[in-house]
Amino acid sequence: MRALGAFRTYMILNILETPQELARAAAERFLAKTVQCVEQRGVFTVGLSGGSTPKLLYRLLADSNEPFREQIPWSRIHFFWSDERHVPPDHPESNFRMANEAMLAHVPLSHTNIHRVMSENPDADAAARAYEETLLEVTQQTLPRLDLILLGLGPDGHTASIFPGSDVLQETKRLVAAPWVEKFNTHRITMTLPLLNNGASVVFLISGKEKAEIVKEILQGRKPYPARKVNPTNGELLWLLDRDAASALSSPEEVTRQMAKELLQKPSLN
Ligand code: 6PG
Repeated sequence: MRALGAFRTYMILNILETPQELARAAAERFLAKTVQCVEQRGVFTVGLSGGSTPKLLYRLLADSNEPFREQIPWSRIHFFWSDERHVPPDHPESNFRMANEAMLAHVPLSHTNIHRVMSENPDADAAARAYEETLLEVTQQTLPRLDLILLGLGPDGHTASIFPGSDVLQETKRLVAAPWVEKFNTHRITMTLPLLNNGASVVFLISGKEKAEIVKEILQGRKPYPARKVNPTNGELLWLLDRDAASALSSPEEVTRQMAKELLQKPSLN
């Protein structure tokens, strides 16, 4: 834990045995955060991640045979997306579609609280600017502080749609941007680091052996991968890994010590 004046940053590394246990640990955290925030402020704001890893979590949260669905105050949640592909909402690659089919369509929420990216807009930059407006409007904050932001990790070290070498890494003003992603020959719409690092709780959900090398490089290396630049200035950072994703780490304890040390070395905010 880093304490500087009023700002605190917590960093936690948690390794679960299986993808199912990983999803369950994330579901427990989602439930705890939702209940806590709704008790304190009457609402909960979350940035959902895309890709394939969070699908198990979303299904678990909506599963009526599991304890979460009944306990979550769905009507009090405002749903946002950490990033979106530049495709219409019914497209197979749509992050909105994935979350909707796995969770949102199966729970009692108020549809006015689903704030998806209008990614059908052929002008990706206009869609990004409109999404920033939505975030500002709904949160009524000049720098929105989402209660929970879910993120994944790509084998190249990207997170949300912030890819290595992308100009968006230098972004200091915009909250949402539409970087061109050469390797996918498309634009993406993504929350930027200023917005991600203002989250109250940022949770990486990472599963699978194919992620083991990049996890090691980020948690034990020095290269400035995009995911490494996610360090909430005043909140908690949680890395939830399954055993396979953690399989290249020398010692999780050493990693936790290393990351805590780095957080302490991070330039002070004031
Ligand atoms: C996206 C994501 C992206 C994702 C990683 C990991 O839109 O693709 O938001 O950042 O989290 O690429 O993807 P997987 O979970 O599919 O491995």
